Amino acid sequence: AEIEKAGFDHFMLKEIFEQPEAIENSMRGRALPNEGQVRLGGIREHIDRLRNAKRIIICACGTSWHSGLVGEYLIEEYARIPVEVEYASEFRYRHPILSKDDVVIAISQSGETADTLAAIREAKAKGALVLGICNVVGSSIARETDCGIYTHAGPEIGVASTKAFTAQVTVLVLLALALSQKRTLSDEQTKDIIQDLYQLPKKVQEILNLNEEIFEMAKVFKDARNFLYLGRGFNFPVALEGALKLKEISYIHAEGYPAAEMKHGPIALIDENMPVVFIANKDSSYQKIISNIEEVRSRKGRVIVIASEGDNDIDKLAEFVIHIPDAMMPLMPLLTVIPLQLLAYHIAVLRGCDVDQPRNLAKSVTVE
Ligand code: G6P
Repeated sequence: AEIEKAGFDHFMLKEIFEQPEAIENSMRGRALPNEGQVRLGGIREHIDRLRNAKRIIICACGTSWHSGLVGEYLIEEYARIPVEVEYASEFRYRHPILSKDDVVIAISQSGETADTLAAIREAKAKGALVLGICNVVGSSIARETDCGIYTHAGPEIGVASTKAFTAQVTVLVLLALALSQKRTLSDEQTKDIIQDLYQLPKKVQEILNLNEEIFEMAKVFKDARNFLYLGRGFNFPVALEGALKLKEISYIHAEGYPAAEMKHGPIALIDENMPVVFIANKDSSYQKIISNIEEVRSRKGRVIVIASEGDNDIDKLAEFVIHIPDAMMPLMPLLTVIPLQLLAYHIAVLRGCDVDQPRNLAKSVTVE
């Protein structure tokens, strides 16, 4: 196992650092900037039916459910097809309303999650077209779906999912583009997005280079008993994922919330002991999130911000700021999630937790 960890202390850290490569592998041969097109062999036969879907329902569990939420924002933004994201465990028992005009997308790293597998069986029985996004080749979900796209992130050993998430989101970008082709996006627009996508592995690497800085921050917050993560738009699912990573491996209670929804509940929890992580990159909701930061500050919450490179104005509003490179808004989750993974990792290690095998959790949940 020591050899397999390639010099890293844990599989999770190794897998976090493999993300530039994982993102690259999940786009390889699929995104063609010169042609302004994507090519996804595994869905080619069904592409017309996919593009004409009346509705897309994404079913998943855990971290894969979070990438599904990013997928919802991506597909609605680019392809303008209505998307719903469902916990597989809820969807399967709700006597779901489905027809042959619906597409169900199952997202699963392992391809073996019992609830997700049951959900696709239900969807197939009702005539929906079922597409799988899996990491493990030949897994049950990959075999039972009508068509699919592998994420090619490589084996993921750490129980807390990291590179599988970024690979899933990368594939969802490609899928959203494929659904938009010849419909809602011109080749020129697709080309711009693919070119931005190609910049991501390098930008992820730049964020990984901030590891020491994030470790220093982890030392300051390691004894917190609660954490709040807030983001808006494309970064709302990242807030959920940041909170999940922390609670899974450090056992600190953490909640993710859409930043504006804070005033309908979590704001009551804020005092001088509450660290609040904001994802506040320069995008269309920047000004709004700044007001949310002010709201937390005025209640003495401890503010941590993930901000854009060069945005030094924000430094005076926070106890800690991690500056990261920007990308176009729909691609930002692939960048903003990285510092949150590292923060969770370092806090868990500092607390003496077993990060690769957290208590009570399993890598894949093959029973109900
Ligand atoms: C378990 C794992 C999570 C994972 C979830 C869904 O809870 O601990 O890391 O996100 O299952 O797994 P899947 O293989 O379907 O993506």
